[in-house]
Amino acid sequence: MKTLENFRLIREDFPLLDRKFNEEEKLIYLDHAATTQKPKQVLKKINDYYLNYNANVHRGAHQLSAKATEKFENARLSIKNYIKANSTKEIIFTRNATEAINIAARSWGEKNLKENDEILLSIMEHHSNIVPWQLVAERNKCKVKFTKITNDGTLDIEDFKNKLNKKTKIVSLVHISNTLGCCNPIKKIAQLSKKNGSLVLVDACQSLAHTEVDVKDLNIDFLAGSGHKLCGPTGIGFLWAKEEILNKMPPLFGGGEMIQDVFEEKSTWADLPHKFEAGTPAIAEAIGLSEALNYISILGLNNIQKYEKKLTEYLFEQLHSIKDLNIIGPNPYQDSNRASLASFFIKNIHSNDIAEILDSKGICIRSGNHCCQPLHKYLNINSTARVSMNFTTTKEDIDIFIEKLEETINFLRINS
Ligand SMILES: Cc1ncc(COP(=O)(O)O)c(C=O)c1O
Repeated sequence: MKTLENFRLIREDFPLLDRKFNEEEKLIYLDHAATTQKPKQVLKKINDYYLNYNANVHRGAHQLSAKATEKFENARLSIKNYIKANSTKEIIFTRNATEAINIAARSWGEKNLKENDEILLSIMEHHSNIVPWQLVAERNKCKVKFTKITNDGTLDIEDFKNKLNKKTKIVSLVHISNTLGCCNPIKKIAQLSKKNGSLVLVDACQSLAHTEVDVKDLNIDFLAGSGHKLCGPTGIGFLWAKEEILNKMPPLFGGGEMIQDVFEEKSTWADLPHKFEAGTPAIAEAIGLSEALNYISILGLNNIQKYEKKLTEYLFEQLHSIKDLNIIGPNPYQDSNRASLASFFIKNIHSNDIAEILDSKGICIRSGNHCCQPLHKYLNINSTARVSMNFTTTKEDIDIFIEKLEETINFLRINS
């Protein structure tokens, strides 16, 4: 039986995680927040599509196309069920979460935002949830505002309440921060926003593989997700939005698949969700993502969350024992839903040097600003090193990482 207690079986599904980095040492992958590894089951489904029923969807009259269409549309159903949406019409396939947010910002934003309207984000947002709003703000002459964070590295709710006003037309917020790791109180944010008459978009990139997300319970309007952060392939993501909102949004991309009729002078649009999906979609990737969701669901998000919480507590304990190491974001006791990652910096040592030396020892972590430049500027830090885990990570991985990190820091201190 494949459970989180039985790591041998789980790790067997992820051959890359058992690769040797040199003759005797294991490669340790601790960059799951950037992208997760893919289980064999996902790769098998992708292969199966190309080997056995490769065809375009929604168009062919032949049996291969019918099968590809069925599997592709079933993938949409998997996403709908995973986030507990009302209907598959609400699931728009995209290339990634970035594209999903761009569709919302361009299609909804350009139509609905007026001069002097405000878009309320937070300072911890990923660039993917900042730049699309800056683009629409420039076009429509409106303002982008940022909620601050507290000294603990969590969203400052009081500042949010102060910035939310009658001009705020949309609040767009990350669910779990890819840098601070904090889990934002989306339900509360949505409640306050709804009372104010503002729509809510949630960037769920870092939360979907770690915690249950129920779009109806959260009472939000848009949600963006990326397949590759969910043990699925790259090149596939999705935008969820309420059907009544999508119905009123104009299509963003034009071409095949998204039309009902095309005349010389104008065209009419296909029904949802196809109105937003111009051209041949990422068929194999959607099928792979569906299998990834199935894989995660079998393990159980509650089990994953409990397991990752213990790992995070252990990681924090170990990191706290290192002199002069500062972690940004709340600790797992302050925020029990926080992500299983830690971003840290050490005075007088550049995080790129840490990551580079660790890489030479077979440890993969990330360094830099993690696409959160405004956050790093706000905190007055150039960069951080980020170690990010998931349900495939073991305590042994953390021990090896800490041992090599200490060696690295000592080396850099002696040579600085
Ligand atoms: C919080 C968050 N939002 C958005 C993104 C963008 O995801 P993608 O590059 O898959 O569109 C990321 C990726 O790191 C992320 O962590």
